[in-house]
Amino acid sequence: MTEATWLWGKPGWQHLNPHVWMKDHEFRFVGLVPLLTRMAVVRLADHSLWAWSAVPLTDREVKELNEWGQLKFVIAPNVFHHFFLGPMKQKYPKAIFYATPGLEKRRKDFKFDRIASIETPQDWQNEFELRILRGSRFYTECLILHKPSRTLFVVDMLFHQKECRHPWINLAWKAYGVLNKVTSSPICRRLVWNRAEARKLFQEILTWDFETLIMSHGEIVQNGGKEKLREALWWLKI
Ligand SMILES: [Fe+2]
Repeated sequence: MTEATWLWGKPGWQHLNPHVWMKDHEFRFVGLVPLLTRMAVVRLADHSLWAWSAVPLTDREVKELNEWGQLKFVIAPNVFHHFFLGPMKQKYPKAIFYATPGLEKRRKDFKFDRIASIETPQDWQNEFELRILRGSRFYTECLILHKPSRTLFVVDMLFHQKECRHPWINLAWKAYGVLNKVTSSPICRRLVWNRAEARKLFQEILTWDFETLIMSHGEIVQNGGKEKLREALWWLKI
């Protein structure tokens, strides 16, 4: 796998392993800033599919996904990642849509079927662990372990931005302090108001068995993900 494989919107599904597919989507944040965001799909033991952080899909991508399995679950895993839920529901009206706690208040126009909670994995055949990072009233995020693939899904708390084809974006990431390293998002850090609670949460998560980190923005970490996460959480003094 090369850097270019994962960066800046290589079209189509990328098959990470027999359990996980990913799709990167470049969009214009606030209509201006090109930003790559990622969707992932996990195939469960019964070959049904679970989708994380929806992005727009072409007809061809929908066809390929449907050949892989029946999409049953879609989770909007933090309060910021909900822009593409509408088109997803149009394509998959029978799927069960989950909201991270608090998102249902921001998206009153969208009918979620359930609010994510620690009980949620029972619906997902016990293949997952899920915890809620309740940063503040402005920020909640689901941290999700897929046990069979030993993958931890983190939305915005972690970034891994590598240099891209937009020089001014590289400068912006560098100024923001997140270029070319796995690090926590400075904005998300500031939105975690109860650090003692966050510390306790991540202490538990660091006991989980995972190797791979999939985050929404930047290159994934395939090996050594737990150590990278621990390093990125220096501000929690774990
Ligand atoms: Fe994001």
